[in-house]
Amino acid sequence: MTDLDLPELEALARGVMPRAHAPYSRFHVGAAVRAASGLAYVGCNVENASFGATICAERNAIGAAIAAGEREIVAVAVHTEAETPAMPCGICRQVIQEFGAGAVIVSTTPTARKQTTLAALLPEAFVLER
Ligand code: THU
Repeated sequence: MTDLDLPELEALARGVMPRAHAPYSRFHVGAAVRAASGLAYVGCNVENASFGATICAERNAIGAAIAAGEREIVAVAVHTEAETPAMPCGICRQVIQEFGAGAVIVSTTPTARKQTTLAALLPEAFVLER
């Protein structure tokens, strides 16, 4: 089983957060995902003047992993400077489900930490059966 090394993943999420492009919300988010290979990939939120074109940090990190050839995500770390740890939004939960139904999710702020699982955040997830 892949070593999640959550402390490293949390540090990567914290390190990439300042690169967020968030001039509209001013809410900076950093994310790091651990792939089954053991490698980690980072992403930040990238906002747009057409607000609906904004992409969350988690999905950008997953996109980087997939583009590198990964297909399984085992852990996701999120870092913000919010009062309480920010959990992945609904769309990001569904995207994490696609590649990491068993993923551990951890969210940190400078003073708080919350750890959970995707299964707890997205019970009875949609699965396409044809
Ligand atoms: N955001 C994320 O990057 N991840 C989430 O899970 C929730 C929200 C971003 C999107 C937007 O740029 C800003 O936070 C405020 O919603």
